[in-house]
Amino acid sequence: MKLAIVILAAGRGTRMKSDLPKALHSLCGRPMLGHLLEVSAGLSPAKVIVVAGFKSELVRAYLKKQTFIAKNKLSVVVQKKLLGSGHAVGETARDLARFDGAVIVLYCDTPLLSETTIKNLIRDYESKQADASLLSVVLENPLGYGRIVRKNSALVERIVEENDANPVQKDIREVNVGSYIFDTKKLFAALKLVRQNPKKKEYYLTDAIEILANTGKVSAVLVPEPKEVLGINTRLDLCRLEGHMREKILLKWLDKGVLIQDPKTTFIDLDVKIGSGTVIHPNTVIEQGSIIGSGCSIGPFARVRGASVVGDGSVIGNFVEVVRSKVGKKTFVKHLSYIGDALIGSQVNIGAGTITANYDGLKKHKTIIKDKANIGSGTILVAPVTVGKGAKTGAGAVVTKGKNVPDRGVVVGVPAKLLEKGRAG
Ligand code: UD1
Ligand code: CA
Repeated sequence: MKLAIVILAAGRGTRMKSDLPKALHSLCGRPMLGHLLEVSAGLSPAKVIVVAGFKSELVRAYLKKQTFIAKNKLSVVVQKKLLGSGHAVGETARDLARFDGAVIVLYCDTPLLSETTIKNLIRDYESKQADASLLSVVLENPLGYGRIVRKNSALVERIVEENDANPVQKDIREVNVGSYIFDTKKLFAALKLVRQNPKKKEYYLTDAIEILANTGKVSAVLVPEPKEVLGINTRLDLCRLEGHMREKILLKWLDKGVLIQDPKTTFIDLDVKIGSGTVIHPNTVIEQGSIIGSGCSIGPFARVRGASVVGDGSVIGNFVEVVRSKVGKKTFVKHLSYIGDALIGSQVNIGAGTITANYDGLKKHKTIIKDKANIGSGTILVAPVTVGKGAKTGAGAVVTKGKNVPDRGVVVGVPAKLLEKGRAG
């Protein structure tokens, strides 16, 4: 079956109280929209259409950068007036009305949705030969969600939004997740019949469900785990769902042989790699794109970011920040250091309190520290600067810009001077 996927990301996200479109708020280092794109990629769709609206130029810019969906399969439709989820899908009619296949509609604010769950939805739609099939979930507290009114245990009659629900409907705990699959032609025919909601003045996609259910078959697949399909409408929702995603990431690393001493205080983004046998100590943050080797020790209180790379057997110890840097194998940065824009070789020892002064107020510059160098405690390396192989800096040395330390040279003082006779051992 050919598939098209529409991701709705036009909403302003008013309840987030943010200048950023909701779709671009990040969970574990990746915008919500990126999570949906990754899931979409797993379904091998013929095309993916993102409906953008509020600050659509920012959404477009993100889509240019993303790598989940091939550029020739991805397009953006701008919904100029935010007239509701039904209207948003209607805006894709030009690209999709003649599409010969099924269309999946996803909301950008359910970022924990898994590929397996969507595959179950597709299976349900195909096996029941339905006109539409949707995901539902039973919540302890359904407040704010559209309630599923059923015809019977197999079929859906309609979805009633919170604002329009009567007291009996409000008691229904089975709610609409906001993920659907439709017969494309029937969807666009139904959307033409959707009337504006009198209270919210919006065209609801959920009303198209009622129209399809009146003349045909709409089924619902119950998702067993609510955490996976909760929507993000507020910052508190974002915070909670990020917590769930974080837990999933930590479980994955534990399973792969990474020892995480205190999951409660460990933050590892998506798109990170960690080798087995590495120990992550408490209060550690490892951000998007970073790669940590095997047998390393990271933390406590360490932050590795800016897609940094740490080689096998290295130590990034307490109160150390590493950013946009590459650290070789068996190198020790054990205490209180800032390593920014640096290229550090193997078996280097970086003394406590070493700082790479990488920023001159305008630009960032590189520091290179070659294999087996020994950086004395409290050294400041003013970039751009290179410390040669096996070279040493004395405690408290300030190595100024461009005053490169030769291989096995020894420098001391402020500004650091090369010891004529000194040769590092
Ligand atoms: C929606 C569903 C509700 C469901 C809930 C699940 C409708 C009418 N209601 O409610 O049944 O239980 O999601 O989380 O769909 N959007 C646009 N353009 C618009 C308006 C919205 O693209 O003009 C997008 C939003 O970016 C979002 C999605 O549509 O991705 C849903 O909109 P939102 O306002 O979050 O709907 P809910 O009130 O959460
Ligand atoms: Ca929502």
